[in-house]
Amino acid sequence: MRIVINAAMTADGKIATKNGSSAISSNVDLLRVHQLRNSVDAIMVGISTVLADDPQLTVRFGRAGSKSPTRIVVDSTGRIPSNSKLLKKANELDTIVATSKRISFDNTRRIESTGAKVLVAGRNKVELRIIFRMLEKMGYKRILVEGGGELNWSVLKLGIVDELIVTIAPRIVGGRSSITLVEGEGCDRISEGISLKLKDVRKHANGEITLFYEL
Ligand SMILES: NC(=O)c1ccc[n+]([C@@H]2O[C@H](COP(=O)([O-])OP(=O)(O)OC[C@H]3O[C@@H](n4cnc5c(N)ncnc54)[C@H](OP(=O)(O)O)[C@@H]3O)[C@@H](O)[C@H]2O)c1
Repeated sequence: MRIVINAAMTADGKIATKNGSSAISSNVDLLRVHQLRNSVDAIMVGISTVLADDPQLTVRFGRAGSKSPTRIVVDSTGRIPSNSKLLKKANELDTIVATSKRISFDNTRRIESTGAKVLVAGRNKVELRIIFRMLEKMGYKRILVEGGGELNWSVLKLGIVDELIVTIAPRIVGGRSSITLVEGEGCDRISEGISLKLKDVRKHANGEITLFYEL
């Protein structure tokens, strides 16, 4: 299985403002992201991203492939709202809620009644290593992780990410509470940080750059 993380951040490393506004990418970058979505079997996000942005996680720019990628939400208690765009389309587009044993019977039933599938792994948080193993057994080969910062950390920490693609917008938004590219517990020392190999850099006329890393 190949796992790719994609994100857009400001020059100061934020993926959203302090109020949660996160429309950072230009249209050129959005086109690239939607082409990338078109090349994967599934797109995964954390529940805080769903609550903040209410994303559709579909391929809307460029040419959509014959099969839409499965949309996966990592949500340890199944608090994804029934009126979220993801659940509202779950009867048409494959949707998975990856959850933990903390999910209630009512939330399981509510989510499944929309057509979404519920996968349970982990006692308190979602045990991602097990979820990725389940997804692999289900035939998923290429998964795109689209944040947010907490999920990015958890996936990176597992040591199973193959690529990291980051677009940096020529903008600074500051804010000590603004979410950055990678949150989580973090490392104590720089030497303990996850090493990246820079494979490509694309520079756009609008001052945006996209960095392509391998891990
Ligand atoms: N610019 C971009 O590219 C971009 C992309 C995506 C998101 N964003 C922004 O990022 C912000 C959200 O990021 P975030 O860091 O707050 O949250 P997040 O990564 O979207 O979601 C984190 C939540 O997922 C749940 N979770 C369950 N198991 C987990 C596990 N093993 N590892 C990590 N999370 C797990 C937890 O909530 P429970 O305990 O309730 O399950 C956790 O609090 C939003 O403002 C959004 O707009 C920006």
